[in-house]
Amino acid sequence: MTETQNLFGKTILITGATDGIGKELAKMSWQAGADLILHGRNPNKLADLLTELGSGAPGQKVETYRADYSRLSDVRSMAGQILGNVPKIDVLVNNAGFYPEKRVITEDGFEECNQVNFLSPFLLTNLLRPLLIKSAPMRVVNLSSIGHRYVWSNLNGAVDHPFYWRWVAYCRSKLDMIPFTRELAGQLKNDGITVNCVHPGVIRTKVIRFLPVSWGASVRSGAETVFRLMVDPALANVTGKYFERYKIVQPSIVAQSTRYQSALWRVTLRRVGLIQDADGAILPRQEQA
Ligand SMILES: NC(=O)c1ccc[n+]([C@@H]2O[C@H](COP(=O)([O-])OP(=O)(O)OC[C@H]3O[C@@H](n4cnc5c(N)ncnc54)[C@H](OP(=O)(O)O)[C@@H]3O)[C@@H](O)[C@H]2O)c1
Repeated sequence: MTETQNLFGKTILITGATDGIGKELAKMSWQAGADLILHGRNPNKLADLLTELGSGAPGQKVETYRADYSRLSDVRSMAGQILGNVPKIDVLVNNAGFYPEKRVITEDGFEECNQVNFLSPFLLTNLLRPLLIKSAPMRVVNLSSIGHRYVWSNLNGAVDHPFYWRWVAYCRSKLDMIPFTRELAGQLKNDGITVNCVHPGVIRTKVIRFLPVSWGASVRSGAETVFRLMVDPALANVTGKYFERYKIVQPSIVAQSTRYQSALWRVTLRRVGLIQDADGAILPRQEQA
């Protein structure tokens, strides 16, 4: 599966498109003819990316959106702008993520890694849900990590534990992407939407800068694993799966737990200020008077 595939007429939203795997995915998708919606937190890096992409084919379009994922208000505002501007999305790639240097509690009151890597993509995806359903058939691809295997459940969001181990915080955020993927896939299975997640390999980007490893595969090879989930026709009906690079594998026991999945979904809706009605529609939670 390469970018020689024709993606003309497809619209692809990539979060965290300003570096690493996301940037490579943007270039591959652009070369394949897709229209792009690119998210970043840094306006200069977004402007540089547009310059790097160049003008594209006649009629090919690219838009950029800025949001710092450590602020839920930024994510809400980006989702509102996209809902107002974008008529359809064929692929949403929840790629933005980082490896923390130290424990930080955000202005929303959450541990930063949990918020950036999990709460914010959860919020964006659920706010865009009406547009995703309208766009069907479409695909959601979430970035997880093999590191999810080294940690247990995380329902308290890692806020109140006195000891902070950044590796654990990172792996927990990546663990939660798997039950999120499985739950969303189940909820949207009759809507023509597939939802899968992937460990792209250990890839030489700034995410592994602080890890005790000196090796890593190329950014291109990591991006290719994600690109396949985005566009491979053979995966059109595959949903709710966890991939390690190119293979569907069983995630950890906790990532497979339906009890954890339901509890995490409920708690996370509340954390990001959403509720779900009996028909499954996602609504903003009304502030208590
Ligand atoms: N590299 C690996 O070995 C590996 C393995 C498993 C999973 N992953 C996952 O793959 C995804 C991509 O990571 P990468 O390795 O390509 O890392 P990267 O090169 O650091 O790219 C991460 C992207 O996320 C953005 N981002 C980080 N913090 C953000 C925030 N607070 N708000 C908005 N955007 C933010 C970055 O923006 P800036 O450009 O402004 O920094 C960048 O665009 C992540 O979800 C990561 O967890 C990576």
